[in-house]
Order: sequence, then structure tokens, then C-alpha cells
Amino acid sequence: MYNSKIIGLGYYLPENKVTNADLSKIMDTNDAWIQERTGIKERRWIKKGTEDTSAVMGAKAAKIAIERANLTKDDIDFLVFATLSPDYFFPGCGVQVQDMLEMSTIGAIDIRNQCSGFIYAMSTADQFIKTGMYKNILVIGAEYHSNGLDKTTRGRGVSVIFGDGAGACVLTRTEDNTKGILSSHLHSEGKYAEKLMVKSPSIKHWVPEIIASKGEDISYFPYMDGQFVFKNAVTRFSQVILEGLEKNNLKTSDIDMLIPHQANLRISQFVQRKFGLSDDQVFNNIMKYGNTTAASIIIALTEAWEQQKIKENNLVVLAAFGSGFTWGSVIIRW
Ligand code: UT7
Repeated sequence: MYNSKIIGLGYYLPENKVTNADLSKIMDTNDAWIQERTGIKERRWIKKGTEDTSAVMGAKAAKIAIERANLTKDDIDFLVFATLSPDYFFPGCGVQVQDMLEMSTIGAIDIRNQCSGFIYAMSTADQFIKTGMYKNILVIGAEYHSNGLDKTTRGRGVSVIFGDGAGACVLTRTEDNTKGILSSHLHSEGKYAEKLMVKSPSIKHWVPEIIASKGEDISYFPYMDGQFVFKNAVTRFSQVILEGLEKNNLKTSDIDMLIPHQANLRISQFVQRKFGLSDDQVFNNIMKYGNTTAASIIIALTEAWEQQKIKENNLVVLAAFGSGFTWGSVIIRW
């Protein structure tokens, strides 16, 4: 069996920075509350009227990743796109990227696993490579949250957290089984679907019903039971990291770099303390970008790599938890 390893990384963020002070002008919130509860100082929100969308940002990040992999778009055999904020209800963003990058008619799938989307996407790509079906796979995570948030005081518990952005990597086949993705671990618990969701529009509850409510029905805005999600996140993050380490006969002290999904700095710090990891062993950038859901891990991984915080042979652990609930980890020998 083959193994897969990352050979190119890239990210793209919209230019428009929105600080906590900016938010306090449009809703009843303040910098102290946001920083204390989440660690976030600013996030990027796409300026309406620019070309950026989840698919467009994903394509921009993908171009960088392909170039850094020293490949061309014609070398890519398959494409996996993770997002919870696709440009269209259908078709998915994957096919849009296939078109935007003028790729041949390769297969393209969308993964809908929210904050765990990138972990699920990497794991999916890894399976196709391990079995020998494809050689080079483009894996993208991108989110355009800002146009779908309730940016009033009513929605402040959710809207201050989320940011827009995209990241991508190229996974390639290797015959060296000591390097690359050692294992991936995926979980779900659908009974908590309604704890963090966008309920409509859905086929169950379609647009005319929302219009008929004359503004009463706001189920098209994201809903989150923040404290419940937080409690589950700290437990599941820890479990799935340990599961991955145990599978590979490794210990928490073997971790060189943990890249947690950037859900809340307090969650990352909790996991860091629990495992006794130093600041050098955990990478966070939520302060600058907020929670970019399926894009957060790949943006953080790319930044950590650009800052030379990841070196040859390092043990890199990626982990995520989010809506679904879904959670997962990927264990990588760099
Ligand atoms: O990425 C997917 C996974 N997501 C997560 O893991 C997120 C998990 N949850 C969280 O990160 C936290 O629960 C939040 C950051 C979302 C919220 O923090 P919290 O400490 O759980 O606050 P809370 O929702 O319990 O609200 C506490 C108070 C409330 O006021 P009262 O009822 O105590 O008077 C809220 O109305 O804070 C108020 N509040 C705000 N105040 C200022 C809620 N949002 C804001 C805000 N600014 N933006």
C-alpha cells in the first residue's frame, strides 16, 4: 500500500479586516468580551461586491499550493473541497474549482463536515492515494461566513466568532511508509445536530415558508448552543488526539506541532494544558482570522510551515471538532 504526504500548501484571505472595535459599532459587543471568551482580535470578512466567494478563495489558495508543490493543474488527479458555506446549494464548490483552474475533467467532491471538514477531506484524499487510485490530490477548505451571519446584537454570540478564508494542500503518493499521513480518525454524533446548525433554507423548510413568516423566522442564521458545544469540544479534541497517538504507539510528549481547529483560543489552551504542551508545540492564529471552520486547520498549517515551525520528521497532529457533531484527527510524520 502507498502512503500520502503533503507537498504543497497555500492559503488566501480576503483583504478586509474587521476588528472587535468595528463590530462594537454595529452591535452591542466589545473588544474585552470577545478577546476574553474567544481570543479573537480581528477577522477577515469579504467586502460585498468583490469577486471572492468560497469557491473563488479556494481556487486562489489551490493555485498557490499547486505551484509550491512544483506541479501544474494538469498533474492533479482528483479534488476534494470542504466547506459549510458553498456558493450554491448545488452543485458543490469542487466542480467550480475544476472549472476556475481549467483542469481536465477530473473527479471533484464536496465534503460537508463543517469544522471537521478539512480532517474529513484529508482523510478521504488519503484513502484514494493509499489504495493507488490517484497520485496527486488537491484538498481545499474554504468558508464565506460573513454574508450569512446575523450581524446584530441578537446574533452576537455567533457572528463575532466566524471569519472568511481558504486554504489548500496537495497530497501526493509516496512509497515511504514512515512519512506522510500515518493515520486519520473520524467520528460523528448526529443526535447533537441542532446544537450548532443553520436550519434553513432546506428542502424541509424552503424559502417561501421563510418569506411567509414576514421576518419572524430567522432560522437561516447559524444557531449555536455555545456552552454545550464548548464542553463537548474539549472532551472530543482530547479523545481523538489520544486515539491517533495510541494507534501509532506515540505519546503526547512526541507531538512536535499540534494544529487544532481554530474554534476558540480557550479550547486550544485547555488541550495544551491537559497534554502539558509548550507554546512552541501548539499553533494558533484565531486571534487574526477568527474561526474559519473548514479552512482553519489548513490556513494554520500553512502559516506554521511558512514560519518554519514545522521541520522534516516532525510529528504533526491535526484535530478538529464541530457541528454535527463531528470530530477527527490526522497524524502526520512530516
Ligand atoms: O467551531 C465549531 C465549534 N465551536 C465552538 O467550539 C465554540 C464553542 N463555544 C464557545 O466558544 C463559547 O461558548 C462562546 C464564545 C460562543 C460564548 O462564550 P460563553 O462564555 O459560553 O458565553 P455565553 O454564550 O454563555 O454568554 C455569556 C453572556 C450572555 O449574557 P448574560 O445572559 O450573561 O447577560 C450573552 O448574552 O455574554 C453575552 N454575550 C455577549 N456579550 C458581548 C454573548 N455574545 C456576546 C458578545 N459580546 N459578542
